[in-house]
Amino acid sequence: MAKETIAEQKIREHVERLGEQHPPIALASVDRTVKNPDVVREKFGHVIEYLARVELEVDRNVLELLVLLPRTKEVDRMFYEDVWQPQEIQHGLIIDQLGQDIGLAPAEPMLEVQTSMKILGALSHIPAIGEVTRLLYYLTGASTERQAVLAYNTLSRAMAELEEKAISETIIGPIKQQEPGHFAFYQMAAREMVEGGRLKPWQLWMAREIRSFSYGLVGTNGKKYYTADMGGVMEALGFTDDLEGFAKDVGRFEAKVLWANRNGMAFPPYVLRALRDSLALYRERHKRGDQGIAAAA
Ligand SMILES: [Fe+2]
Ligand SMILES: [Fe+2]
Repeated sequence: MAKETIAEQKIREHVERLGEQHPPIALASVDRTVKNPDVVREKFGHVIEYLARVELEVDRNVLELLVLLPRTKEVDRMFYEDVWQPQEIQHGLIIDQLGQDIGLAPAEPMLEVQTSMKILGALSHIPAIGEVTRLLYYLTGASTERQAVLAYNTLSRAMAELEEKAISETIIGPIKQQEPGHFAFYQMAAREMVEGGRLKPWQLWMAREIRSFSYGLVGTNGKKYYTADMGGVMEALGFTDDLEGFAKDVGRFEAKVLWANRNGMAFPPYVLRALRDSLALYRERHKRGDQGIAAAA
């Protein structure tokens, strides 16, 4: 086995620390007091239902990784199997329980691995393509975890404002503390690949091409319906007041590591495009009087 570089060692230590310092949150640790379930449901039911579904889809994400990374590195396996999946599944169960406590239907995670993933997975058996896929995995992880961090930060403030102390302190607060560690892992791993010179120019080019046409917001799974739902989440959390600012928050890392801030790029253009598309789909649906997930409850 090749000797571990300093960057690799730091990543491994980060993962070990996450495992030690952030055990999965127990359902029993949650205080299920909700002062005003109707208000919480009305204002944030849509957000809560979206988050519950996406968190519960972690099991599909792990299946996807088994397909996409045929030569999994031990540190990746350790991260997604020992740390990430056990944490995220608890987030899902806890948020889903909150949803049901305020009168929403149980979340319905999409658990089937899509054909596009299987195709990319098949191609990833070619080692040089597999390395591109690995970078895409880290970039996707960084982008989605960043969105999770921003969503939970905002939701936590909102719950505190509504004086829903139990939700804010025993649900969103503890979950919120676990997301930045995931984001940091993907950042470190992507950086190690790019800055460590592990990729040839054509591999970086390919990663940029694939990101440009396949980039999607967290939990949208390439489906219009979920993409519209995500527009509603952004609206409810106030992210749509400054879409470019949000694009910057989400895309800053990727602009730097994948695009080397080409021509002063603050975020990749496809990030803002995805945000705009998502919002447009949501507003279109709203105009038709279809409320999306929360109304289906
Ligand atoms: Fe999570
Ligand atoms: Fe996460």
